[in-house]
Amino acid sequence: MNPQSFIASLSFDIRLAPYDILGSIAHARMLSRARIIPARDAQRIITGLTAIAKDLEKGKRLPPEEDIHYAIERELIRRIGPVGGKLHTARSRNDQVALDLRLYLRDQIDLVLCEIERLQQAIVAVAEDNLDVVMPGFTHMQHAQPILFSHHLLAYAWMLQRDKGRLRDARHRTNEMPLGSAALAGTSFPIDRKYVARQLGFAQVTANSIDAVSDRDFLVEFCAAASLVMTHLSRLCEELILWSSSEFNIIRLADDFTSGSSIMPQKRNPDVAEIIRGETGRIYGNLIALLTILKGLPLSYNRDLQEDKPPLFDTVDTLQGCLAVTTPMIATLSVRAERMRALCARGYLVATELADYLTEKGVPFRTAHGTVKRIVGYCEKQHIRLDELTLEELKRFDGLFDEGALRVLSIDQVVHVKDSEGGTSPRRVRQQITQLKRLMRS
Ligand code: ARG
Repeated sequence: MNPQSFIASLSFDIRLAPYDILGSIAHARMLSRARIIPARDAQRIITGLTAIAKDLEKGKRLPPEEDIHYAIERELIRRIGPVGGKLHTARSRNDQVALDLRLYLRDQIDLVLCEIERLQQAIVAVAEDNLDVVMPGFTHMQHAQPILFSHHLLAYAWMLQRDKGRLRDARHRTNEMPLGSAALAGTSFPIDRKYVARQLGFAQVTANSIDAVSDRDFLVEFCAAASLVMTHLSRLCEELILWSSSEFNIIRLADDFTSGSSIMPQKRNPDVAEIIRGETGRIYGNLIALLTILKGLPLSYNRDLQEDKPPLFDTVDTLQGCLAVTTPMIATLSVRAERMRALCARGYLVATELADYLTEKGVPFRTAHGTVKRIVGYCEKQHIRLDELTLEELKRFDGLFDEGALRVLSIDQVVHVKDSEGGTSPRRVRQQITQLKRLMRS
């Protein structure tokens, strides 16, 4: 490989083209307004750039060049002549690429925020449609206590709500305008950076030119937030995989989201969910790649920074793809309510209720816990469920048990009384849906 091809980035930074042109148009306007170049030259540059943008949209290719910045500049000069060379006055590719990245990422964050909200809406819709469906809740992958399926699913909507907060936060620091930092020291031309920032919708201009051309923290922040979104998707997918297995069999994924096996005709493999779970690792890898590029890198710009793009673009594409496919996967899953209820009968899910019952009668909880542990042991030996015990049997363990004790053992009742704030009772779950809907809109 020749060194020129080795350092080239056009094959991947081509996707910055629309942002590069947007930034250049704003820069040309500023150069003209500040009387750094004549207005008619600026106009020719802007017309030329606009035409290039249109052609690129139509699929026209750029001349082979080292990177997107050179490729567009060369194409401009080819079209309008040497006057096109005035565009690069008072700027460097170092502040130019920083600007392009910030413009690009700001847009991508907005797209990701929309995708996350769509997924949240799908989750809330499934939760509302299945609000009263009970299922076993797990800790340590062991049956713990009965919960509402809607409550469990909504946990993911809250994770995603925090993800949006992190992304908005990252967007905030992405939304600063670096152009005018030039190579690293700023420029001697009388530029108007705030005017460029206003044209491009940036909240402010960066304060230190050396920092501005060296900084890729905003990419790291995005990739960190993206890693956490992927973590949440991966956990959700893992549950979908488990829940649709024949052992659980409490949901069914729509056919589009499963594939058959090439050898076993009965298989409905949850490939989509598995791929999302699998891709998560690469997204973590992209974050580590970026951090490692920056670690120990002296100020200001070094060509190492060009290596920020492949991991960034991969994270953007993967995240958007995963979100876009998870939403319909959730929206189309079917809930096997009867099977969920049947599973609640196993595993002594209501044991805590029995202990709570004694506690309400004044028995210290620790003592009640011990008593119920012995009762569960007895049931295991007799091969019966807790709700199959007679009052006489219960009284053998503690004389304080009475008729009421048997009533607290119904699954619906158990869920109903978990009415503490954020708890699994239908009333509280409805409440969190209202709260979530309000927050999602803001
Ligand atoms: N292609 C380069 C990048 O992506 C653009 C900046 C090049 N600057 C330079 N001084 N070589 O970072």
